[in-house]
Amino acid sequence: MRELKERILKDGQALNEAVLKVDSFINHQVDPKLMENIGNTFAEKFSNDRITKVVTIESSGIAPSVFTAKAMGVDLVILKKSTSKILDDNIVQTKVASFTKGTEYQLTLNKRYINAEDRVLIIDDFLAQGEAAQGAIRLIEAQGAEVVGIGILIEKAFQPGNKALRDKGYPVYSLARIKSLSNGHIEFLEEE
Ligand code: G4P
Repeated sequence: MRELKERILKDGQALNEAVLKVDSFINHQVDPKLMENIGNTFAEKFSNDRITKVVTIESSGIAPSVFTAKAMGVDLVILKKSTSKILDDNIVQTKVASFTKGTEYQLTLNKRYINAEDRVLIIDDFLAQGEAAQGAIRLIEAQGAEVVGIGILIEKAFQPGNKALRDKGYPVYSLARIKSLSNGHIEFLEEE
């Protein structure tokens, strides 16, 4: 998506070889017009997939997901990150380890909000190792629902998340694919 790539070049910052800072328009301050355009782009891309729910992971995935769900006319389910196990019959949890942040959390879903008939589009801001997306997939599939696609704003293509998801058969659609962040320089993968 040209608009997102241009914004990354203008306002993003390669903190080091592995981390791109996008605090001024995605992670801390949010540009709602950009988020709306992103939502419309995902809605268009997955328009023939009979999506019934959009699912994201708190917190930075929420803004683009709200606009995606609105454009598709479906509800959004936000998976929560809990630091502990919750004992409740309605709750399912799966452990996710964050490579980038060195933390661990219990990704949490109330079963009431996803059922076996659902066709789910997962949206998230970053794809790095793919651990968060795979945790979301475990929770969704445990309800008997189908993950139809995964929409990502910024994919770090030098990390293994995309390949791991594609190898398992999940269609991944990334709006900006980063080839390298070396020497403070942001380089995108050349795509058709
Ligand atoms: P993975 O889910 O693909 O395995 O990625 P990883 O564990 O490495 O990433 C964990 C967290 O770090 C996620 O945020 C992810 O969005 C964020 N992250 C990964 N790479 C980058 C990067 O290059 N730049 C920035 N700004 N963030 C990155 P989170 O913990 O879920 O936080 P949030 O959604 O509350 O912001």
